[in-house]
Amino acid sequence: VKKVAKIAGGVVNRAFSTNLSYFEKIYSMTGKNKFPDSRFVRFYNIYLKKMLSKKSVALDFGFGNGNQSIFLIENGYEVYGIEVAKNACSLLKVNFKKNRINNYPLKRFSVISPGSAELLFKDEFFDLIVANQSLYYLPSRGHIKKVCKEFSRCLRPGGIVYFTMVGNKNSLINNYSNEIHGDMREILCDDPSHRLYGLHQFILVVKDKKDLKNLFSEFECIATGYFDDKLCDDRNFHWVFVGRKTKKPII
Ligand SMILES: C[S@@+](CC[C@H](N)C(=O)[O-])C[C@H]1O[C@@H](n2cnc3c(N)ncnc32)[C@H](O)[C@@H]1O
Repeated sequence: VKKVAKIAGGVVNRAFSTNLSYFEKIYSMTGKNKFPDSRFVRFYNIYLKKMLSKKSVALDFGFGNGNQSIFLIENGYEVYGIEVAKNACSLLKVNFKKNRINNYPLKRFSVISPGSAELLFKDEFFDLIVANQSLYYLPSRGHIKKVCKEFSRCLRPGGIVYFTMVGNKNSLINNYSNEIHGDMREILCDDPSHRLYGLHQFILVVKDKKDLKNLFSEFECIATGYFDDKLCDDRNFHWVFVGRKTKKPII
């Protein structure tokens, strides 16, 4: 039964703690996804290669098991990462070994608390900030906007961002929304045959391209797109936003 609930402070806290335990559980169950996201590889080939030098400095926000971080390191980037799930850090170590990345300073990868919108990096430190399938685990647009302000502070003028957000054509949103809290969905999968059966998470949904641009208005939009892979009945619809920090603030 789908219910519409009000967004309250309690929901924000539940979203933070539910999503954190969702990822700790997922990462303790499996070390899946050994490869960089193919869409990210395309983005690298089509945009990044032309825009940034190989020696660029990148932040991987919500690095998970480090697939995008490793891909960037292998391509010459100096990569830093932020996570909330401690288990992600253990997976990252394993993933580094598997990919024969030795002596890379693991202290560049750190854990923050889910509600923290403050990043401990100097102004204009990064050339690139990637948040691949991570920002929608923040429980409101306000939280995402705050984090984007921090991203902007830490990004040099002309620096690039790559973000993905879930859209409402995504099967999880369509089939397993247990409760609706404004534009945030509480997902509890009740299908025993589904890989996410019994797992509980909160996801913030972006309506359309206009909504996407609006959410990331901190940055000049270079390109928007989406990916929508379909396997059996599952669709993994995500919006993609590619942006740039302008030299002058956008009003
Ligand atoms: C779907 S996974 C994606 C992982 C990785 N970016 C990738 O593409 O494989 C989402 C990640 O975001 C992290 N995450 C969730 N909320 C976060 C927050 N508030 N700050 C930083 N990371 C967060 C989760 O722990 C999880 O590792």
